[in-house]
Amino acid sequence: MAKGRKNGLYEGVSEELSALMRTGWADTERHDLEPAEQAPYAAARRVALSALFPGERLIVPSGNLKTRSNDDTYPFRPYSGYVHMTGDQARDGALVLEPRADGGHDAYCYQLPRDSRDNDEFWIGYTAELWMGRRRSLAEAETVLGLPCRDVRTITEDLAAGSGVPTRIVRGVDPALEAAVATDEERDIELEGALSDLRLVKDAWELGEMRKAVDSTVRGFTDCVAELSRAIASSERWIEGTFFRRARLEGNHVGYGSICAAGDHATIMHWTDNDGPVRPGELLLLDAGVETHSLYTADVTRTLPISGTFTPVQRQVYDAVYEAQEAGMAAVKPGAPYRDFHEASQRHLTARLVEWGFIEGPVDRAYALGLQRRFTMAGTGHMLGLDVHDCAQARTEEYVDGVLEPGMVLTVEPGLYFQPDDLTVPEEWRGIGVRIEDDLVVTEEGHENLSAGLPRSSAEVEAWMARFAG
Ligand code: GLY
Ligand code: MN
Ligand code: MN
Repeated sequence: MAKGRKNGLYEGVSEELSALMRTGWADTERHDLEPAEQAPYAAARRVALSALFPGERLIVPSGNLKTRSNDDTYPFRPYSGYVHMTGDQARDGALVLEPRADGGHDAYCYQLPRDSRDNDEFWIGYTAELWMGRRRSLAEAETVLGLPCRDVRTITEDLAAGSGVPTRIVRGVDPALEAAVATDEERDIELEGALSDLRLVKDAWELGEMRKAVDSTVRGFTDCVAELSRAIASSERWIEGTFFRRARLEGNHVGYGSICAAGDHATIMHWTDNDGPVRPGELLLLDAGVETHSLYTADVTRTLPISGTFTPVQRQVYDAVYEAQEAGMAAVKPGAPYRDFHEASQRHLTARLVEWGFIEGPVDRAYALGLQRRFTMAGTGHMLGLDVHDCAQARTEEYVDGVLEPGMVLTVEPGLYFQPDDLTVPEEWRGIGVRIEDDLVVTEEGHENLSAGLPRSSAEVEAWMARFAG
């Protein structure tokens, strides 16, 4: 909810100004719009959701703007379940599935319509189009989304009209709407879980978007290599800005805060300050992804020798991670338990760590006890899509305890991280962090590596840098 606005320099609006503002505007209703390419896919997703909850009303909000100060707001990001079910990105919206007697549902998309020019709302206030930009009219939204759209300002009355209907809402997205419906928390959590489950397998349109996200990301990585000398002359921020430019030019944004980690920052899993030096002789771990205009993101990591050539110890670590990634990727195929790729990678890294004398063997015992985690830290991957950690609320039996199916998109991203203050490893290993992360789609035959356009082996990385490094 918007906080009250204070300390504006204008105190009021004269009747004359109000009258002046209401007149002299052209009719800008658009009659040239076509249904979005995604519309039939979103319709099929709604049919799948409907089948899971016969006889129940389902509410999937998009979310609201959060005020930071006066009319300065935090960046808005629509709830991914709403985007998936509608193809829409509007704020203050909600998808409502109203149950029908035959067990199916009728879908309505509630939206904030255009502001009337017959009063002051279009130019005064937080949602005013004159300040925030033109919205779609309800008729325009209906055409683009391919489903009936209603004025969100009447949603609570509309919902009250059917107040006996068992209702579920996704919680934590639109607090005001949530407060207006009396629902059961556990049943609401099941709805959120179902929306996550339904994103596990991507449809053909989504796979096209994932390809676009990864292809832009590949170009963004090449940009960063081409600008390496400018990063050396400034800081990790140059890398962050270089990738960001590509993301904004070709897509909507970055899908998550870019990790531009040079030197021992590479051992910090979520290093996003990106304010450190970029020094030849050290490694640069770059973990970044372009998010498309439709909000699908890539999630790719490469670890680069800043001088262009790995030192012997850096190469030893890099090659172990590369082999672990190869082992993990080989386990990505339809019918394979989801956990297999993680186990394959982690076992490989455990064996190396035992061999190097950093953890005590035998390998099976070390792995069973999880001793490798001191140096591997994270799980080997995750589902990818509208969220970088996609489908996070999916049922465990469908996700980590499930099996891979064609159309699933996941990352395979083993790593080794030797902290700068780790006294259990030789000094020259300290401060080395290596991760290699690719985005794979499960196919009927096995998998396709969507990010194969970037080099992976240590020799390929060096050759690539020799060619592109600026
Ligand atoms: N960039 C976050 C991750 O790799 O999971
Ligand atoms: Mn990543
Ligand atoms: Mn990842």
